Amino acid sequence: MTEYNHNPVTVEDKTAVVIGGTSGIGEAIALSFAESGADVVASSRDQKRVRDTADSIRERGAETVEITSDITDRDSLRSLRDETLSTFGSVDILVTSASAVSRSSLETITESEWADVFDVQLDGVYRAVQEFTREMNSGSIINISSISARLAAANLLAYSAAKGGTNSFVRAAAKELAPDIRINAIAPGFVITNQNRDQYAEGTEKRARIEERTLLGRVADREEIAGAALYLASDAASYTTGEIITVDGGFSDNVF
Ligand SMILES: NC(=O)c1ccc[n+]([C@@H]2O[C@H](COP(=O)([O-])OP(=O)(O)OC[C@H]3O[C@@H](n4cnc5c(N)ncnc54)[C@H](OP(=O)(O)O)[C@@H]3O)[C@@H](O)[C@H]2O)c1
Repeated sequence: MTEYNHNPVTVEDKTAVVIGGTSGIGEAIALSFAESGADVVASSRDQKRVRDTADSIRERGAETVEITSDITDRDSLRSLRDETLSTFGSVDILVTSASAVSRSSLETITESEWADVFDVQLDGVYRAVQEFTREMNSGSIINISSISARLAAANLLAYSAAKGGTNSFVRAAAKELAPDIRINAIAPGFVITNQNRDQYAEGTEKRARIEERTLLGRVADREEIAGAALYLASDAASYTTGEIITVDGGFSDNVF
């Protein structure tokens, strides 16, 4: 028989930390890792959200610890890392999925709105990756970017610029972290979450325009973004690093 060594899409027996893992895309990723057999720490600022997601992780038979953290605060990231390490012994997978958006125009956006978006979306990624890789000997890091990094969307200036920075950070960090740690980003299209529920509600003109342009004709279920994260976190993606994987149902490529 032909020899063939297949790496399965699984995170069984790994330990994952998902920052921004208590809502929307991050929570879907945390639960999908839990269902695939990983221990998962889903962290964010709000204690109740952390507790609720921890309960959902346990319901799937996975181990967890409840740790709040703020990606804008380096000390809280160190505590998240150190408490996870003292409980599970290693961090094999790190996901950053914290959200901050400004919908102000170029004319009106203020210094503080701009800084708040960057603090979470770009500086936060730098802080988290720097702190966690001090203690990771190997593994996979996944940053949730956006198709906004390369598309022109009205009134998403700071957000788009920060996501563009995330993509560049991922490519540059991949060089420094190779060969033991892989780092990639996922660029989702439209997923209805707390970040955008008001803008893209069903029946609105904006939602209709998105669905019309999307080749698959609909917005994504958050589980469909988690599927890409599961692949990138698993050994099936052992030759993938420095990549930005678009998961947008064909929205970006549909020009006419
Ligand atoms: N939804 C989309 O269509 C879409 C598309 C492309 C990219 N994205 C990106 O996907 C990521 C997740 O967004 P989402 O749509 O899933 O939003 P979401 O449902 O609002 O979830 C955001 C998560 O981030 C946490 N968070 C916010 N600020 C934080 C901070 N300073 N430190 C730690 N955690 C923080 C929130 O919990 P707490 O409030 O408890 O901190 C929550 O768990 C974001 O980076 C977003 O830009 C989303």
